[in-house]
Amino acid sequence: MLSNQRKKFSLPANSIYLNCSYMSPLMKEVEKAGVEGMKRKRNPATISPANFFDQTEILRDEYAKLINVKESKRIVVIPSVSYGLANVAKNLKADQSHNIVVAGEQFPSNVYPWMKIQQEKKIQLKTIAAPSILKDRGKIWNERILDAIDSNTKMVALGNVHWADGTKFDLIEIRKRTRDVGALLVIDGSQSVGALAFDISQIQPDALICVGYKWMLGPYSIGLAYYGDYFDGGAPVEENWMNRKFSEDFAALVLYQENYQSTALRYEVGEHSNFILVPMMLTALKQINKWKPENIQQYCAKITRKPIERLREAGFWVEDENYRGHHLFGIRLPKNTDMEKIKQQLQKNKISVSVRGDAIRVSPNLYNTENDLMKLVRTLTT
Ligand SMILES: Cc1ncc(COP(=O)(O)O)c(C=O)c1O
Repeated sequence: MLSNQRKKFSLPANSIYLNCSYMSPLMKEVEKAGVEGMKRKRNPATISPANFFDQTEILRDEYAKLINVKESKRIVVIPSVSYGLANVAKNLKADQSHNIVVAGEQFPSNVYPWMKIQQEKKIQLKTIAAPSILKDRGKIWNERILDAIDSNTKMVALGNVHWADGTKFDLIEIRKRTRDVGALLVIDGSQSVGALAFDISQIQPDALICVGYKWMLGPYSIGLAYYGDYFDGGAPVEENWMNRKFSEDFAALVLYQENYQSTALRYEVGEHSNFILVPMMLTALKQINKWKPENIQQYCAKITRKPIERLREAGFWVEDENYRGHHLFGIRLPKNTDMEKIKQQLQKNKISVSVRGDAIRVSPNLYNTENDLMKLVRTLTT
């Protein structure tokens, strides 16, 4: 069992951060890697042409370990989920006979591209809303998603957990169903990868797109995308010189190349060898690979169990643990709760969570303790 890791971060002593779903705090080591990266540009003579490629290569390999990918050239650096999904959208071979299935109230970066395809190609966008009842909510939502996938489904695009309340989607069952009907499965792992184990060889998604600044504990504006063989030979959203064959040879760059680098590398963002962000992301991933997501999940389960029991006793609703993440869950407040008062109390006690309507999103990590969550419980219940 992992111990508390707060000493690796620089969080202030008098506040409680339970909002990794919004943005993770930076580890001291990651910050150091960023400063080192910044300093490198003091003297550009220390940055060789090979460095434009080799650091990203190491980052790919480290991420390949985290999500269990054999061919690390299926992994590319992206600046955002919207960028990673733009590559998916551009290469989706769909027409008006098709539909795309998404979960209700998904994060907009994983909805707008499909709305655009709906407008342009007249496909049907099937949005499967969460059940309005709370009993068996996660179970019923999963069943409805499975039922919505039919022989006209071109793609299912969702998260491993829902970004707003941590509802877990059963990717194994969804993958089986998509395979039966010949549909793609595209996962936005931004709210899970890093804190919840994800195994590409087990789920076999067609794409997995993730931001780096949440559960992967990296900086903002760098993420990682995995593209399966459906995307081999496709068209990237930009024509970046680095993604063409032989671009390592700086002396021959104007011998313009028709071919791209191998496997999925054509989808990598321009200037992917960002000398500040890449070492930061790499340092964070090395630490996560040492900790292992399953241990982070276990730690979060341990520190949240008792506080969730107390909340339920006080009339709050939290999803059954089989249908939510331990690192990310929603708390539904009892009817007639004064939300404004709760917000003020949270602020007064310096507790950071996300408040949405009549629900609160709580997302702890290794820097939190059971005590942090008990303070949240006291703030909500008194
Ligand atoms: C599930 C999910 N996907 C993606 C993002 C960020 O998207 P983008 O990288 O396009 O800004 C967020 C941010 O909160 C998110 O929760």
